[in-house]
Parts: sequence; structure tokens; C-alpha cells
Amino acid sequence: MSQSYDVIVIGGGPGGYVAAIRCAQLGMKTACIEKWQDDRGKTVLGGTCLNVGCIPSKALLDSSHQFENITRHAKEHGIVVESARIDVGQMLKRKDKIVKILTTGIAGLFKKHRITLLEGTGSLVSNRQVTITASDGSVQHVSAKSIIIATGSVPAILPQAPVDHERIVDSTGALAFTEVPEKLGVIGAGVIGLELGSVWRRLGSEVTVIEALETFMPAADQEIAEAARKELIRQGLHIQLGAKMTRCETRGGKVRIHYEQDGEKHDLEVDKLIVAIGRKPNTAGLRAEVVGLKIDDRGFIETDGQCRTHLENVYAIGDVTHGPMLAHKAMEEGVAVAELIDGQKPEFDHDNIPWVVYTWPEIAWAGKTEQQLRSEGREIRVGNFPFMANGRARAMNDTAGLVKMIGDAKTDELLGVHVFGPNASELISEAVLALSFESSTEDIARTIHAHPTLSEAMHEAALAVDGRMLHL
Ligand code: FAD
Ligand code: NAI
Repeated sequence: MSQSYDVIVIGGGPGGYVAAIRCAQLGMKTACIEKWQDDRGKTVLGGTCLNVGCIPSKALLDSSHQFENITRHAKEHGIVVESARIDVGQMLKRKDKIVKILTTGIAGLFKKHRITLLEGTGSLVSNRQVTITASDGSVQHVSAKSIIIATGSVPAILPQAPVDHERIVDSTGALAFTEVPEKLGVIGAGVIGLELGSVWRRLGSEVTVIEALETFMPAADQEIAEAARKELIRQGLHIQLGAKMTRCETRGGKVRIHYEQDGEKHDLEVDKLIVAIGRKPNTAGLRAEVVGLKIDDRGFIETDGQCRTHLENVYAIGDVTHGPMLAHKAMEEGVAVAELIDGQKPEFDHDNIPWVVYTWPEIAWAGKTEQQLRSEGREIRVGNFPFMANGRARAMNDTAGLVKMIGDAKTDELLGVHVFGPNASELISEAVLALSFESSTEDIARTIHAHPTLSEAMHEAALAVDGRMLHL
């Protein structure tokens, strides 16, 4: 007889494991199916985010940031470092240790909440039944009153640059280079290209980023994107916009990239090439077609905006369904879907999902851009405040960037906040909270911000909306 559960979650990434925890908290008998194995063949939870995404990339971003501070900026502080070199092996070991601690932590949370981990690939049999095929080929049948699909995403493939995991890699390979490539090419000036390009540039690579679009970071506010582009170029990143890659070949241990830009042909020889042109929803092995699950032409599972698929009792969350491919979006959907199954009426604010790019300075935003609002015909007021005029940023020697705040010209409702600056990833939470509470820019202007903090730049940008900043 097959085991039966209240809820089966397929996929144990941030969407799936959070959904499982919340279901268990609400008293549901919960199982989670996961197929990810570490290099020793042990099943690990955490999905892309913990194993090859958010966490390992931030571990390397932090190591390389510290290296750059020591090698380039220590002197300004009066710290004399005679010689500093990077031990890539140790840097990777630290990253792997962090991943292990966190993935083991999720396994511990599963035990705490009595969630059953089913190891293998989950495939749908019906809207209540799933089979699990383990790595040894054995098959198990389980059933549930509800099924949550959280199977995530995988890197998109570029036929002109097939990943060989040696010279041409995807983001996973770029987190594991065993030495600093002398010359590094990156296809795609998106989030991964900028973050991982920055990591290896800081460690000494000459990095060229080849981007097909003419516009840098089209999703970001263009004033902020332009400030970021200039600063990243100043730091040494070569960014080629409007560059169409035609082909590439690997020869003599090098990769030769051919691309066209402004009607001219170029080639570039690099030691490694990272392909980072986006990610695709992952429904491989799910046998969605067997149960007739609706999938759109880009591969996303279709949902009704509340994570319900068109099959009764079957839900989809995270990267495999519409919306930004972000871990915090997946997690919030995980919570919402568990509460929905429990009969509650959860709210999920899809309009106020923050975006962060963890370059240094960081880029972060929430709400709408000036370009979006103007194209909608909204009358707006904009307040900018540069970190140059912020005392704490001065004390930190981190004065590049600005905060930009946008409010409605008549009602003063806060409509968007865009930050390029130190710790923008942390600063943006205040904006998300204010947007969620439908605050005015005046609300932020009237809020006391501790001195001296970077958050005072948020305060000043809010004052600037009304033309009354105090320190500029
Ligand atoms: P995933 O994390 O992809 O998890 C899906 C899980 O399902 C996987 O463990 C997979 O093995 C399992 N699975 C798939 N199919 C089956 C099946 N049939 N049976 C059983 N198991 C299955 N986002 C951020 O918000 N911030 C960041 O800083 C950030 N950095 C990133 C850096 C990199 C390099 C990358 C690649 C991504 C980054 N992301 C970041 C994106 C983030 O990792 C994803 O948005 C997030 O992991 C999505 O969560 P998910 O649960 O939907 O899917
Ligand atoms: P992306 O969508 O952010 O960027 C891909 C870039 O590649 C785009 O600028 C696109 O125009 C360009 N491109 C596409 N095809 C190309 C081609 N043939 N030649 C040249 N350029 C081409 O995707 P990316 O960087 O791969 O990241 C995938 C997703 O992972 C992100 O969208 C994001 O959701 C998530 N992520 C989030 C992070 C964060 O929150 N800090 C960090 C890393 C990833």
C-alpha cells in the first residue's frame, strides 16, 4: 500500500522546503521529494539557492570583496599589508563549508518539524499520486490530498557556446574555478554575469562581459543602471553592450569568442567563458504531460496568481512558475500556498518584491522605475541623494552611488525606491516595508533614522522629494 500524506512537495529548494515547513507547522502530514545529491551521493536540501546559487555566490562575493579591500583600499586606512595573495582552494573550501552547514540545517529543520524526506525524482501520476524513482532505480508510490510543485529552474543553454564544464561553464562551474583565470569572458550582463564577473575581476581576472542588448540592466531604473555601469567599468569590468555573439571555439586550452558590435566583427580569446543568459523553468522528470498540467510556451507552469495550477489540489511555486526567479519570492509563495491549503486567505504582494544585485556597491530596488511611471503617464516627484554626502559612507570610504526615491506628485504615495550604494541590499527593506504599507515619501522623511548610518541617505532622498534635504 502506498504511503499517504496531506501534502507532498516536489523539490526541496527555498520554495519547496519553506512550503513543507509551513505545512508541517499548520499540522499537515508532509513529505518533500528531492533528487539533488552532493558529490558523495547524499541527498541534500536547499536546491539551487543553497547549493549553487545565492549562498555560494555570496560567499565568494564576500571573500573577493575582502581581498579587494586588503589589496586596494587598506592603504587608505593606514593599514600596511606587505603582500597579499588569494588561496583559491581555501576560498572554495570556506564556500563549501557554508553550503554544508546550511543544507544540513534544513535537514535538521525537517527532523524538527517531522517532515518526511523522500529521496529521488518525483513524477506525477495524477493530481493526488506521485512516484519517486531513487538513484538506484527503485520506485515508490505515494499519495496526497495536495501536491506542491517546486522544481525550480536550470541555466538556459546557448547553442553557440555549449557548456563543456571545463573551459565553457555555467554559473555552477563559475563558482568552482580552481584558479583565477587570467582572462575571463562572460556572456550576459545580467545578475549572474555582474556578480560572478565581479568576483573573478576582484581576484585578478581581466573580465569582459558580452551583452546582446544595447541597454544595461533594462529592468532597473535607468539613472541607477547608468551610475552602476560607470562604476563597474571604473572598477575594471569591460562591458560590451549591443554585442551579438556569433560563435566560439575552444582550442589550445583557450576559448575564442566571435561577436559583432556596431556592425563590426570582433574576437576575444579567454581562458574561461561563463554563459549566464538566464534560467529556464525545470519540469524535467515531472511527467507534467501525463496529468495534463498546463505549461506555457516558455516552459513555466501556469498558475492563477495564487499558485493554483488548473489541476485541482496541485500548486506550483518558485522559479518553475511565473514571476521573478528569486529565492525570497519562492519562499513567500511557499508560505502562502501552505496557508491557502490550510483554508486561510494569505496575501502575497507580488508588486513589492525587492531586487538586489550583489556587486559592490550593491544595486537594489523595489516598486516602479521612473521610466515605467513616466510611460504610464503618472505625475511624479523624484528625490535623489548621493552617498558622497552621507557621513557614514564617508567614514567607510564607500561614497559611490545614490538613493533615488519616487513619489506621486499629488498624493505623495511612495511609488519606487532605487539604491546604488554600500549595503543597498539591507537598505531596501525599509522601502519594501514602506511600499507594502502604502506609505508616503513624507512618512519616510518624518521617520527618525539613526546617525551616522547609511540609512540616512534613504531619509535624505525622501526629504529630497520635497526639495528639503538637509545635507546637500
Ligand atoms: P530551486 O532552488 O531550483 O529548487 C528546486 C529543487 O527541486 C532542486 O533542489 C531540484 O533538485 C529539485 N527537483 C527538481 N525536479 C525534481 C523532481 N522531479 N523530483 C524531485 N526533486 C526535483 N536569488 C535570490 O533571491 N538572491 C540571490 O542572491 C540569488 N543568487 C543566485 C545566484 C546564482 C548563481 C543562481 C544560479 C541563482 C541565484 N538566485 C538568487 C536565484 C535562486 O537561486 C532561485 O530563485 C531559487 O533557488 C528558486 O527556488 P525554487 O525553490 O523555486 O527552486
Ligand atoms: P538574467 O536574465 O539576469 O540576465 C541574462 C542576460 O543575458 C540578459 O541581460 C540578456 O539580455 C543577456 N543575453 C541573453 N542572451 C544573450 C546572448 N545570446 N548574448 C549575449 N547576451 C545575452 O539571467 P542570469 O544572469 O543568467 O540569472 C538568471 C536568474 O537567476 C536571474 O534572472 C535571477 O532571477 C536569478 N539570480 C538572482 C540573483 C540575485 O537576486 N542577486 C543573482 C543571480 C541570479
